[in-house]
Amino acid sequence: MQKEIDMLDVQKIREDFPILKREVNGKPLVYFDNAATSQTPQVVIDAIVDYYSNYNANIHRGVHTLSQEATDAYEIARKKVQQHFNAKHAHEIILTSGTTHSINIIATGFTNFLDKGDEIIVSALEHHSNIVPWQMLCDRTGAILKVIPMNEEGELLMDIYDQLLSNKTKLVFTNHISNALGTINPIEEIIDKAHEVGAAVLIDGAQSCPHIKPDVQALDVDFYVASAHKLCGPTGVGMLYGKEEWLNKLPPYQGGGEMIEQVTFEKTTYAGLPHKFEAGTPNICGGIAFGVALDYMNSIGFDTIAAYEKELLDYGTQKLLEIEGLKIYGTAKNKTSVISFNLENIHPYDVGTIVDKLGIAVRTGHHCAQPIMDFYKIPGTVRASFSFYNTKEEIDALVEAVKKAKIMLR
Ligand code: ALA
Repeated sequence: MQKEIDMLDVQKIREDFPILKREVNGKPLVYFDNAATSQTPQVVIDAIVDYYSNYNANIHRGVHTLSQEATDAYEIARKKVQQHFNAKHAHEIILTSGTTHSINIIATGFTNFLDKGDEIIVSALEHHSNIVPWQMLCDRTGAILKVIPMNEEGELLMDIYDQLLSNKTKLVFTNHISNALGTINPIEEIIDKAHEVGAAVLIDGAQSCPHIKPDVQALDVDFYVASAHKLCGPTGVGMLYGKEEWLNKLPPYQGGGEMIEQVTFEKTTYAGLPHKFEAGTPNICGGIAFGVALDYMNSIGFDTIAAYEKELLDYGTQKLLEIEGLKIYGTAKNKTSVISFNLENIHPYDVGTIVDKLGIAVRTGHHCAQPIMDFYKIPGTVRASFSFYNTKEEIDALVEAVKKAKIMLR
């Protein structure tokens, strides 16, 4: 692990991110809101500028040179996503507007596959985007939502999961990593056990993909979803991996141009994969930039990223816990570089506002995971989420800022 950490030249990497040179409120920016959106390296910004400067055109629908160049670049990006996630086929990769869109494609698609009384299992650690679409699916079908509970550390109670599974279970959904606490869930076990009862599994990889390179074939997962903007790519683009047999069975999510084979007023037939799920003009530039962002992250290497971020997590945890009255929420044995915390009797929003005045960006609130906050009986937390371009010196700045906030707010 030390070898991997040594391979990461963080000062050189920081040069790739123009935004890291800016100041906020007269202080150097310390960006610790990476779990919400990662920052964008110059190579990705250049790809966006290049697209709009040189070959901006609609895809799959023009014989002209610009359209063909854009189409080729977009399909190359799809292949990069396929290779990154190790999908068997490029057409198993649907490019979407992000994780939420990807989840909704599946939740809507299952409407005709569920009967009243069928069961869907989600985890207690879910983001609202992996709760609400399934509740809506239950409303449409009469299916029942069951929840794998969590313990105080923010780990799923897997023995209860075993008890929840039955031949009524048709679908299981969980995130790979909790956005609010950083817990890494045992998705291999979750997938294998769901398959034993014949249920399909969707894994929300929005928070894992910045840290881990998933292999969808090795996982044997039915659906895996993620967003580019957590992976050094732009906002408004993401991916849905689905096993070919599932994607062929599920109906289209939206009707429109590009998703058809033949249209008459009497009947429409649909295009094959992946186009069946890609109605309308997609985020072409975003898709191309997503591919470039994956290249960038792979050039650093996910083993190196994970080892370095673990070091930041351990350092940050130790330093923050030295502040009296500070409590960390989410202390799972297996967690990623997210630290959610509160100062005793101080609202997280107030801490976030003061540290921002000192140039430090953290997220405050319920992090779109209200059930987790309800579990801990708190309104929210301050969340610092570290990326491979962050440093221990920045963590020191956060610790000093939190100490100042504590003095000002008590
Ligand atoms: N889901 C993102 C977060 O956790 C936006 O901040």
